[in-house]
Amino acid sequence: MDPIQSRVDDLISRMTPAEKAGQLTQYFYFRLPAGAADEPALGLDVEKQPGMVESALAEGGAGSLLFVTDPAEINRLQRLAIEGHRHGVPLLFGFDVIHGLRTILPVPIAMAASWDPETIERGQSVAAREARAVGIHWTFAPMVDIARDPRWGRMVEGAGEDPYLGAAVAVAQVRGFQGAGLGTPDRVIAGPKHFAGYGAALGGRDYDEVNLSDAELWNVYLPPFRAAVDAGAGNVMTAYMDLNGIPGSGNRWLFTEVLRETWGFGGFVVSDANAVRNLLTHGFAADLTDAGARAVNAGVDMEMAISDAAYGHLTEALESGAADPAAVDASVRRVLEAKIRMGVFDSPYVDEDRARAVLADPAHRDVARTAAERSAVLLRNEGDLLPLDARRLGSIAVIGPLADSKRDTLGPWVFDFDLDETVTVLDGIRAHVGDRVRVDHARGVRVVQRVFPSMFDMFGDNRPGDPEGFDEEAEFRRAVELARGADVAVVVAGEWQNMIGEAASRSSLELPGRQLELLQAVVETGTPVVLLVMNGRPLDLRWPAEHVPAILDIWYPGTQGGAAVANLLFGAVSPGGKLPFTWPRTVGQVPMVYSHTRSHEPENQTRRYWDEESTPLFPFGFGLGYGRFSYADLTVDRASVAADGTVTASVRVTNTADREADEVVQLYLHQRYGSASRPVRELKGFRRVTLAAGESRTVDFPIGPGERRYWNAAARDWVTEPSTFDVWVGGDSTAELTTTFEVA
Ligand code: NOJ
Repeated sequence: MDPIQSRVDDLISRMTPAEKAGQLTQYFYFRLPAGAADEPALGLDVEKQPGMVESALAEGGAGSLLFVTDPAEINRLQRLAIEGHRHGVPLLFGFDVIHGLRTILPVPIAMAASWDPETIERGQSVAAREARAVGIHWTFAPMVDIARDPRWGRMVEGAGEDPYLGAAVAVAQVRGFQGAGLGTPDRVIAGPKHFAGYGAALGGRDYDEVNLSDAELWNVYLPPFRAAVDAGAGNVMTAYMDLNGIPGSGNRWLFTEVLRETWGFGGFVVSDANAVRNLLTHGFAADLTDAGARAVNAGVDMEMAISDAAYGHLTEALESGAADPAAVDASVRRVLEAKIRMGVFDSPYVDEDRARAVLADPAHRDVARTAAERSAVLLRNEGDLLPLDARRLGSIAVIGPLADSKRDTLGPWVFDFDLDETVTVLDGIRAHVGDRVRVDHARGVRVVQRVFPSMFDMFGDNRPGDPEGFDEEAEFRRAVELARGADVAVVVAGEWQNMIGEAASRSSLELPGRQLELLQAVVETGTPVVLLVMNGRPLDLRWPAEHVPAILDIWYPGTQGGAAVANLLFGAVSPGGKLPFTWPRTVGQVPMVYSHTRSHEPENQTRRYWDEESTPLFPFGFGLGYGRFSYADLTVDRASVAADGTVTASVRVTNTADREADEVVQLYLHQRYGSASRPVRELKGFRRVTLAAGESRTVDFPIGPGERRYWNAAARDWVTEPSTFDVWVGGDSTAELTTTFEVA
C-alpha cells in the first residue's frame, strides 16, 4: 500500500469525530490595526478573535489558518497546534498570494495581458518562493473566473473574458505556484477559484447571483478550471453566490460529480470565507449543523471560517446521521494527504533568517520588472509619439495623483508589500532620465473616495488620501501650467487600488473624479501628451481615444512598476501586451465579448443601439508596439480532415519596422454550421514572438479535435462535428487574413 495512504489511514483510525472536524476547519487569524474592530464587514470581534483561534489550536480544533505571514508568528502558532493535538498534526497555512507576497508582480489581469505563459509561470514561482519561505503552504490563487462584465471589480484578479486564454493562463499559474507537484521545494499548493461561475454576477455586483446556461457554463466558465485541475492543482475554492439557484458552496453536482467524478480531481476543496455558514444566509440550510452536513456531503472538504465554524457542528451532524461519515473521512483523508505531500509533518517550522533573505532576493525584483514590461498594452500611438527620446527632451511634466502613489502602483490584494522599495511612475521616469531632463510633478486633482468604503481599507496604508492642506483648484492650475511649459506631459489616470478587486464593483466605467477634466486641460495646452492608464478593468476612454496621441495601459504594475514604465516610455523595450478582454466604449454596452453568435440582421450587428455603436473601443487581443507586423501566406496543410484529425495552420509574420519588437500571433476559428450556433470566431491558438527588425517567421498552429469540440446544450455532451471551418490569423480578434478547411 502507498505509504502516504497507510499513514493517513492510521491517523484517521485514531481520530475522534471532533478531531476530524478540526482538520476540516480553517480559521482566519487576524492581528489588525487599532480601529479595525469597527469594521462591520468582518462580523467578528477583532480583539477576541486571536484568542478564540488559539484556544481552538490548543485542543486540535483547527486544521489550517489563513492570513498569517510573519514567519515567527507562523512558527509560534504551528507549535501551539502540534502541541495541542493528540497526534501532533500540524497546520496548513494558507494565504491570498495573488500577485506576489513581498515582491509585488503586476495584477493578474495584467499578467494575462502579456499573453506569455512563461512570464506568468516565472512570476508565480517567485510569489511561491517568497510565500513558502515565510511558512505559507498554500495560496488561494489563481482566480480563474471568466469575467465579461467589467463592472465586476474582481475582473482584475482573473484573465479576462476568454476561456482559451483563461485556460492557458490558469495552467501557467498552477505550474508557477506548484512546480512539478505538491511537495516541490519552494512551491505552494495552488487553489483555483471560485468554483464556479462567480464572474457572471448579475449586474456585475460582487456576490450577487449567477444564472448561466448549460452552454455558457461548459464552453466558457468551466474550461479554465478544467485546465487548472489537469495541470495538477491541489486545491479548489468554492464560490459565494447562487449558481442557477443553488448556493455555490452547497452544490454536490459541482464538487462531486463534475470536479471529482468527471474530471478526476484528487485534491481538496475549501469553501470561500464563511461560505458554509452562508448556506444559512442563502435560505438553503436550516441551521449551522445542517449547513455543515450539507457542505461536507456535497464534497466541500474544508470550511474557511472567520469565527464560529459550521464544521464545529459536524460531531452533532455525524451523531444525527445528517453528515455522511464516509464523506467526512474522505475529506479528512484529502486534507491529511495534502499536509503529508507538502512535507508539513516532517518539517513544520520555517527558518526565519532564510525567510528574510528570500524576501530580499534582488532576482525577484527583476522578474517583477520584466513582467510589468511584458504586460503593458499600447492602445494608441499617433504619429509615433512613443517611444520618447530622452536625448531630445528638456523637460517632462508628470501629472496626476496616481503618478506618485506607491500604494496604488501595487494594486489590490497585497498585504505584505514594502512601500520603501516600490517604484512609482514618477520615480521610474526620474531614475531613467537622471539629471539630463527636468522632471516636474503635480497631482492636479484630489484623491477620489469611494461612496461606500472598502473592507480592505482597514489594512495598513490602504486608504488613500490627499496631502495636508491640499487645494485642488490651485493644484489643478499648477498641473496645467507645468504641462504647458514642458516638452511632453505624462498623465497617469485610472482607478485607485481600493476601487477594484473584491467588493469593488462599479455602476460606471468613467475615470473617477476630475481626472478626465484634468487630462482635457492638459491636452488643450498643445503639449504632446502620453496617457498612462492604471486600471484593472476597461474604463470609458472615448475622449482620450480620439484626442490623446499616446495611451499606454500599465495596469497596477507592482513593485518595479515605475522602472518598467520608464523602459517602455523611452523605448528600452517595446510594449507587446494585448487586451485580454473587449474594451467597451461605455458601461451601457456591457457585457460585450468578441465571441458572440450571429442572428437576425447581422448587417446591423454594429448598430444594435440607436445612440451608440455596438462595437468596442478596442477589440479583444488588441495592442500596438514599436514594431510593425505584417501577416501573409496563411495556409492549412490539408483541405479536409476526418473528425479526429488535426489540421496545421501556418502563417508568415514579418516585423517591417527598424527595431526589435514583440507580437502576439493569434488564431481564431469558426464553425460554419452544425447542431448549434457557434460564435462568429473563437481564440484557439496564440504565440508571443520576438522579431528583430525586418525578421520574418513562420508560426504554426495545430487545430485538432480539442480545438473544435464544444459542449452542445441539446446533446448535453461534447461534440465535434463535420462542417466548414474558417480560420483567421492576425494581431487581434479583428484579424482578416483567412482560410478554410473541411471536417468530413
Ligand atoms: C474571500 C474571497 O472571495 C476569496 O477569494 C479569498 O481567497 C478569501 N476571502 C480569503 O481571503
